[in-house]
Amino acid sequence: MKTQTILMPLDMHLHLRDTVMLENVAPLSAYSFSGAIIMPNLVPPVATLEDVKAYKERIMASVPNDYFEPYMTLFYKNYDKKFLESVADEISAIKLYPAGITTNSEGGVSSFDIEEMRKTLEAMSELEIPLCVHGETDGFVMDREAEFMSIYEMLAVNFPKLKIIMEHITTKEAVAMLDKYENLHATITVHHLLLTLDDVVGGMMMPHNFCKPIAKRPEDLDALLTVALEAHPKVMFGSDSAPHPQHAKESCGCAAGVFTAPIALQLLCEIFEQYDKLDNLQSFVSDNAQNIYGICPEFKEIVLEKRAFTIPEHYGSVVPMYAGQTINWAIESVE
Ligand code: DOR
Ligand code: ZN
Repeated sequence: MKTQTILMPLDMHLHLRDTVMLENVAPLSAYSFSGAIIMPNLVPPVATLEDVKAYKERIMASVPNDYFEPYMTLFYKNYDKKFLESVADEISAIKLYPAGITTNSEGGVSSFDIEEMRKTLEAMSELEIPLCVHGETDGFVMDREAEFMSIYEMLAVNFPKLKIIMEHITTKEAVAMLDKYENLHATITVHHLLLTLDDVVGGMMMPHNFCKPIAKRPEDLDALLTVALEAHPKVMFGSDSAPHPQHAKESCGCAAGVFTAPIALQLLCEIFEQYDKLDNLQSFVSDNAQNIYGICPEFKEIVLEKRAFTIPEHYGSVVPMYAGQTINWAIESVE
């Protein structure tokens, strides 16, 4: 039987939520992954040292014995240097959301005035705190990410020592930016390596494929596949797995977010095998992230096996992507 071993898989963009949902989803990520960058868009957002420490404790309390490292983030505001110094050891990055652009982002940035942000971004550069960015404008939905490229350029040029992560990129424009600026990096989700807009609204509307940024055109999918499959050193896997209860997805006013955490590695094996690139999967799901973030997770070995695996209809209250569908790879063992 064909197998694929992955050492220390990392999910560099993950939503775990809180309370009952946290208890439902955190063990699923802890099973498949060594660690994950934890998004701070709770209500209210994770924005103080106390918030970070308390949220980390709640995460650790909700995972079973499996070893799992939550790499914590703070919700971006124009923080001063003193505060950043006090929190630097507790966080792996700061996540910037444009105000109101997605789930629980109301407290985000409403103006990209470089002078207003300068003190914070210079302090982050000095303290070597990476900036993770949800890069969308409030323009037409299919153009939002491409329109954001000028903001990425402005940030990259003005703060050359700042490590900037373009989160969950979905466009060929974002892919092109990777080789243009040394300090720009990116995460790519598994759903954006599989879906285009057709899979969201091309036939019957598919709420479980709906997220922000929305899946784009075939040529965008191809550009993402190119850099993911070659494990371009500036890209890393980040699931953006974003659980919402079934009623919030299958409703008038569907919440944005695709839930993939428990099936991500299996789907990645399937994609990388299809293109005969399984040799690059280790770099895409772990090594690149270790290099970019300078992290060194504890040993964990996941063995996947090529055999039929039917994706569950539910994980508790949450419906995963491809629920009920059978894929070709399954997790065999975790050590
Ligand atoms: O689809 C999304 N869901 N995109 C985001 O940026 C946030 C996420 C969520 O928190 O549900
Ligand atoms: Zn996200």
